[in-house]
Amino acid sequence: MDASFRKINGETGIQESMYLEELSNKAQVVSCIFSLKEEVGALAKTLRLFEEKGINLTHIESRPSRLNKEDYEFFINVDATCSKELDEVIASLKTQISGHVHELSRNKAKDTVPWFPRDIQDLDRFANQILSYGSELDSDHPGFTDPVYRVRRKEFADIAYNYRHGQVIPKVEYTKEEKTTWGTVFRELKTLYPTHACREHNHVFPLLEKYCGYREDNIPQLEDISRFLQSCTGFRLRPVAGLLSSRDFLAGLAFRVFHSTQYIRHSSIPMYTPEPDICHELLGHVPLFADPSFAQFSQEIGLASLGAPDEYIEKLATVYWFTVEFGLCKQGSEIKAYGAGLLSSFGELQYCLTNKPEIQPFEPEKTALQTYPITEFQPIYFVAEGFEDAKEKVRKFAATIPRPFSVRYNPYTHSIEVLDSMQQLKNLADSISGEMGILSNALKKME
Ligand SMILES: [Fe+2]
Repeated sequence: MDASFRKINGETGIQESMYLEELSNKAQVVSCIFSLKEEVGALAKTLRLFEEKGINLTHIESRPSRLNKEDYEFFINVDATCSKELDEVIASLKTQISGHVHELSRNKAKDTVPWFPRDIQDLDRFANQILSYGSELDSDHPGFTDPVYRVRRKEFADIAYNYRHGQVIPKVEYTKEEKTTWGTVFRELKTLYPTHACREHNHVFPLLEKYCGYREDNIPQLEDISRFLQSCTGFRLRPVAGLLSSRDFLAGLAFRVFHSTQYIRHSSIPMYTPEPDICHELLGHVPLFADPSFAQFSQEIGLASLGAPDEYIEKLATVYWFTVEFGLCKQGSEIKAYGAGLLSSFGELQYCLTNKPEIQPFEPEKTALQTYPITEFQPIYFVAEGFEDAKEKVRKFAATIPRPFSVRYNPYTHSIEVLDSMQQLKNLADSISGEMGILSNALKKME
């Protein structure tokens, strides 16, 4: 353990990950500043209010008020367990003593910010936070009565459950039956891509055939694809053992990590799956994650989700649904599909570009409120002008999410920087200044 590690994590260095973190006891303290008119007995009266409520002041400082020379300001700390009583004292200060109260660091909003991963290794925590294990199938699942399939699903779930960031994703030897299922889906969908898929998908697909083993008779390996994506956009795959909550799944995108299934649908109905499987991930999602604009758009949704209140997670999950899963986009005078749910469904990929469904422009505020079915074709699709435009719209939407901080992804450390201090902002300004220098030099050289 070197000095910088100790500096970050405290002398003991006992922290689960290396990120700057407020000292744990800070959250236990509530701070408050109140001002009183300078008159005899005012402070004594105030302190009596605290005493009556049984509040123990752990710290008190006084200073002349910066706002009003006739007032005195008092800075106090109380134990966080007295938070409710402090509310009552504050109410009394306002009404009985005409004190001006400024809650300095009660930080109600901050206290209620849900935990979110700050370091890419924190995503390991999601592995045992899945909502259902991969081998637990519903009674209407095509593989429900197939014991061999269920054992196989358990094998896949175990790989994902034991996977940790930085490890090589274990290679899977797919069975002949599994390869046949893949082959059927691959062959059928490939006939539609030239006419129905967006140009980004069609640009990347041949590269996946060339570099990642995308073939009718071969199910590509997650590790090979993950390495390919990292070289294109920094996106990477990690296997997932079952269904993640929307909050956890979206948080992965903030790190450019996509949680991917590794198992394949049941062979009895190759063109149908009631849940994501490797056909959906590899044919639907993966090609787009190799596109820089789409990758950034996806990460933008993920960043917006970090620490967001539950109701906004639901809205972001809906935005994700109507874009990354079922999005359409304008390309010239045509509309094409870019959503993975469409690009991995032979039936819906054709249906979505007919005049049967309703088409609306993608506007995150409105899209986020749209209800949708999950077991049938979508009655409504949202059309984006392009990924850049969609990204800007999501960014603006994210700014409306009530969070007491902004976040930024640091690609060098694979960590989230919470921009809530001057030092963080200075670091950001330095970084932008460096980039501006590069841009300026490059422009001069091109003149
Ligand atoms: Fe998906």
